[in-house]
Amino acid sequence: MVTALYRRYRPDAFADMIAQSQVTEPLMTALRTDRVNHAYLFSGPRGCGKTTSARILARCLNCAEGPTDTPCGTCPSCVELARDGGGSLDVVEIDAASHGGVDDARDLRERAIFAPARDRYKIFIIDEAHMVTPSGFNALLKIVEEPPEHVKFIFATTEPDKVLGTIRSRTHHYPFRLVPPGPMLEYVGKLCAEEGVAVAPGVLPLVVRAGGGSPRDTLSLLDQLIAGSEGDAVDYERAVALLGYTHGALLDDVVDSLAARDAQAAFAAADRVVQTGQDPRRFVEDLLERLRDLIVVGASSPQAAAAVLRGVPDDELDRMAVQARSFGNAELSRVADLVNTALADMTGASSPRLQLELMLARVLVPAPGAEAPVPVGAGRPEAARPAAEPAR
Ligand SMILES: Nc1ncnc2c1ncn2[C@@H]1O[C@H](COP(=O)(O)OP(=O)(O)OP(=O)(O)O)[C@@H](O)[C@H]1O
Ligand SMILES: [Mg+2]
Ligand SMILES: [Zn+2]
Repeated sequence: MVTALYRRYRPDAFADMIAQSQVTEPLMTALRTDRVNHAYLFSGPRGCGKTTSARILARCLNCAEGPTDTPCGTCPSCVELARDGGGSLDVVEIDAASHGGVDDARDLRERAIFAPARDRYKIFIIDEAHMVTPSGFNALLKIVEEPPEHVKFIFATTEPDKVLGTIRSRTHHYPFRLVPPGPMLEYVGKLCAEEGVAVAPGVLPLVVRAGGGSPRDTLSLLDQLIAGSEGDAVDYERAVALLGYTHGALLDDVVDSLAARDAQAAFAAADRVVQTGQDPRRFVEDLLERLRDLIVVGASSPQAAAAVLRGVPDDELDRMAVQARSFGNAELSRVADLVNTALADMTGASSPRLQLELMLARVLVPAPGAEAPVPVGAGRPEAARPAAEPAR
């Protein structure tokens, strides 16, 4: 049994953290210039590095060569606090979800009085801090305000608003953020290379999208894809199926048929969505995302579009450029608006399939005055296309 990717790649030093420089840079500066506070609050979405950073901060503070912004990695404290180390006596992690009561807080208060067993500081990491009860927080108030010289507190939480205000105001608060697609894509790309896994073009952008900006979720998905692949190669078909996205080829069909006002082909594609057991709502979401990509492609040079739509393979970019041209910019934005409205209407709709088909019908009706000249630069090759008719 191999350990999960996100555990094997848990950063051990601030320099290895991605996309949280608003936190790591000031912390590293404070460590270098010996201006470390006695209490910190790390907040932000799940899986973005709060617990990891709390451990790194503890490692920096207690390194025998420290306090330092880059732990030496070889002293006993650094070894114990490394990702596969056994943990240190002087760094106490408390899971407030199960130990957030007033008795736990009193117990912590008593432990804090004693000097560290070996290292510079006794560091308390209070994880899931929003779960500390009000009386638990009140019991901690005094010691968090004026802890003994040798004590540091690090609170980590997804819900900083639930941390008692009087505690919060005694800490330095650092907000973590979701990781943007660019750095995340680069990170998973590097990681696949390190793992020796070959990933088909177009798969990593899907993984990044599905991970929603959380490194942990993204790595978990990648892990699952790798685990389910033959011979260290992740292929596109399996990834799309597992992640539940619409296959690029199906999206191409729908988009082409809408651009050509080919009703028959559009409804046939919608039928394929339903027959393959895909959620119509997810399909409409993917279609909207594709239309947005087409708007970007239609409005920018190929290089600029490639930079915005990171990770899209070149052949797909070429196909999208053709699609964008055959719609024209004005028509693209009209269609995107219709699809967007349909998506909103689909929430809780009793028949999503029906909503999907009605949406196609609306899109297929030409805009009023559509035959009028398209604005300059909209680049529709043949100004007037036959309004609707079966090409196949
Ligand atoms: N900024 C980051 N850079 C690199 N890897 C990261 C980053 N953030 C998270 N990870 C990865 O995600 C895993 C989980 O991170 P961590 O436990 O620190 O998240 P968290 O913010 O504490 O989440 P939760 O709110 O669920 O407790 C780490 O083991 C690491 O692999
Ligand atoms: Mg955590
Ligand atoms: Zn060290």
